[in-house]
Amino acid sequence: MIVNTARFVVSNSDVKKCPQEIRHEFAFIGRSNVGKSSLINMLTGNKGLAQTSSTPGKTLLINHFLINDQWFLVDLPGYGYAQRSRKGRQEILHIIQDYILNRMQMTCLFLLIDGRHKPQKIDLEFMTWLGENSIPFCIVFTKLDKLSSSAAKVATANYCTQLLDMWEELPPVFRTSSVDKRGREQLLDYIEELCKLPLICDE
Ligand code: GTP
Ligand code: MG
Repeated sequence: MIVNTARFVVSNSDVKKCPQEIRHEFAFIGRSNVGKSSLINMLTGNKGLAQTSSTPGKTLLINHFLINDQWFLVDLPGYGYAQRSRKGRQEILHIIQDYILNRMQMTCLFLLIDGRHKPQKIDLEFMTWLGENSIPFCIVFTKLDKLSSSAAKVATANYCTQLLDMWEELPPVFRTSSVDKRGREQLLDYIEELCKLPLICDE
């Protein structure tokens, strides 16, 4: 898949106000600061498209980006930012969960996991919630440039092994870095294949 054009369309906090067009869309979720917005910029080759920050909690809304005038990438707020009030965290979680449960156009959800760390409770709980709600997802390990290539292999393999203690099988797994762009082709090819499928939206 070649990304020729990528443009910001709309931000909002309410899934009902998301674009009404029936197009495939691919959403990125994960903890605050895991690298969702950076990954969108890496995939589109446009560093300024989605706003990023070294301080967690940058993305607070559902952001739609139209790619090649054909399909959407969606940048979601991150969950679990500890510095935010409990009420604030609940509000963000509500936006995320409402989007995930109700957005018929969402063809695939990519769950981003910082590849440097062991499985964290908050991510495992989020996966459990996805499973309970029958939401299929892919795992995308991020920030792998921060590890040596052998350490990255070991860390991500260990993570997957631990997941298999909880899950019967693994979802598709991608290993990425927004800095050295690894994983870009694999993700875009995966999206390209999914875009060939008919999109059925039953209300
Ligand atoms: P929120 O919007 O706050 O939920 O965060 P986010 O998940 O969108 O993270 P964002 O893309 O804003 O990145 C957070 C920080 O991590 C920024 O300082 C990025 O430069 C850095 N970062 C993101 N991806 C990578 C990566 O692949 N490698 C490295 N080294 N840094 C990264
Ligand atoms: Mg963000």
